[in-house]
Amino acid sequence: MPDFLRKIRSVIGRSLRADLFLIICIIGVLPCAILGFVFLKVYEKQTIDSRIRQIQNQCLIISNHLYLNGYTDAPSGNEVLDSELEQLSVLYDGRVMLIAPDLKITKDTYSLSEGKYMVSPEVERGFSGESTSVYDGGEHYIEVITPITGRDNEEVIGVMLTGASTEQIDSTLSLLRKVYTVVMLALASVVLGVAFIVTARIVGQFRRLSESVENLKEGFAEEKIEVFDYKETERIKEAFNQVLARMRRVDETRGEFVANVSHELKTPITSIKILAESLISQDDVPNEIYREFMNDIVAEVDREDKIINDLLSLVKMDRTGVNLQIEKTDIDLMLEGIIKRLTPIAEKEKVDIIFETRRQVIAEVDDTKLSLAFTNIIENGIKYNHELGSVKVVLDSEPMMFTVSVEDTGPGIPEEDLPHIFERFYRVDKSHSREIGGTGLGLAIARAAVLMHKGAIKAENRPEGGARFDVKIPLSYIIPTEDATSENTAEDKGRERT
Ligand SMILES: Nc1ncnc2c1ncn2[C@@H]1O[C@H](COP(=O)(O)OP(=O)(O)O)[C@@H](O)[C@H]1O
Ligand SMILES: [Mg+2]
Repeated sequence: MPDFLRKIRSVIGRSLRADLFLIICIIGVLPCAILGFVFLKVYEKQTIDSRIRQIQNQCLIISNHLYLNGYTDAPSGNEVLDSELEQLSVLYDGRVMLIAPDLKITKDTYSLSEGKYMVSPEVERGFSGESTSVYDGGEHYIEVITPITGRDNEEVIGVMLTGASTEQIDSTLSLLRKVYTVVMLALASVVLGVAFIVTARIVGQFRRLSESVENLKEGFAEEKIEVFDYKETERIKEAFNQVLARMRRVDETRGEFVANVSHELKTPITSIKILAESLISQDDVPNEIYREFMNDIVAEVDREDKIINDLLSLVKMDRTGVNLQIEKTDIDLMLEGIIKRLTPIAEKEKVDIIFETRRQVIAEVDDTKLSLAFTNIIENGIKYNHELGSVKVVLDSEPMMFTVSVEDTGPGIPEEDLPHIFERFYRVDKSHSREIGGTGLGLAIARAAVLMHKGAIKAENRPEGGARFDVKIPLSYIIPTEDATSENTAEDKGRERT
């Protein structure tokens, strides 16, 4: 930015409007000002040059006549030449002088300096046969010095000095300058007006945008940003409205999540209360009934405990991955450990677990969190299965990734529920699941853990029956970038069945 602009800017402050205003003014006025100035200069030079040429031509003709008549030696007396010189001086509203080789002025049409001497560099150059001219804009005159000589310049018998007034040319020029100034002033005021209106319009859009945003600061329940004319502001508006919609969605799902949590936590407590009250209300409860109710109460407490544990695990899953304890882990050993821990449950359900390692895998993962994910998936395969069914776990690797697939021989997942099973508290068959003892958080935890590792999880039904879960995790941990914000909320429920 040029210095003068920086100075103006420091005076009026940094504002979009001031910058735009300056730019429009400069673009609008500067080229016309320069063009007008150049035009005036060229015009002045052209007219003066052509006037000088005109005078020089005439002087040349007369100097020839003077030479032929040896006029400088014996000035006056030749009426024809006298009148030629008079005419020349009248024509240019000026003065003609003849100077002899001894620098004596022999003829002056003003009759003021005859007999005096004229010493000047131009006259000297005239005597060496050179024709020169001088223009004095301040005094409004041109001086043309012409040697009086024969055609072949062999002998200079005198010098002719013609002064011509340029007042006419100069007055035309000054008129043009006035017109130029007026036009420039008019143009400048038009440009100022236009700049004022245009900047007000453009800046007005931004002002309205910031006003709308200000209004939204308090809350974003209903509002939407409205009314913009320009594509650019339209785009900002759209982006902003998308952000708003997203925030609203987050808000809604958070509310939903809290409602779900409260409900899930309340259910066992309600059961406990009912069981306890019914014991209190009866006198002399038989011992067996008492025991049975107390066992039910313990089961409900266990359930409450499980929900709270699952919730805590879920809360710990943060998609930015900042909380991950990444270390090189033998995935084969990890899966073996999980299967060993789940074997008692599988035996109870009479379900067989088959583990197959196609390739040995060492990967950079958070052992605890990823174990939790696989435990939940494999446990589901056992729980949602038929008696004498099986769960097959296969570990394999692709370039840069390792894959774990878990397939079971159970009833599978109804197609309409497939998009939702990763949502928090989502259970296909509430009553049956309750019997089985789920919280509906297992797959949400699994998905969160996989996403923390920048992996992907997918659920589908096998054509031959049963469900199949596929998990892909990068072998090397991908360090999260800045924009990976904490999104471990339920706002993207069901979105990531990648
Ligand atoms: N392997 C599977 N076969 C059939 N249904 C499944 C399977 N895995 C999960 N589901 C369904 O998805 C629901 C959500 O699973 P999950 O989040 O682990 O919750 P839960 O605590 O009920 O197991 C389950 O309630 C069940 O209905
Ligand atoms: Mg589960």
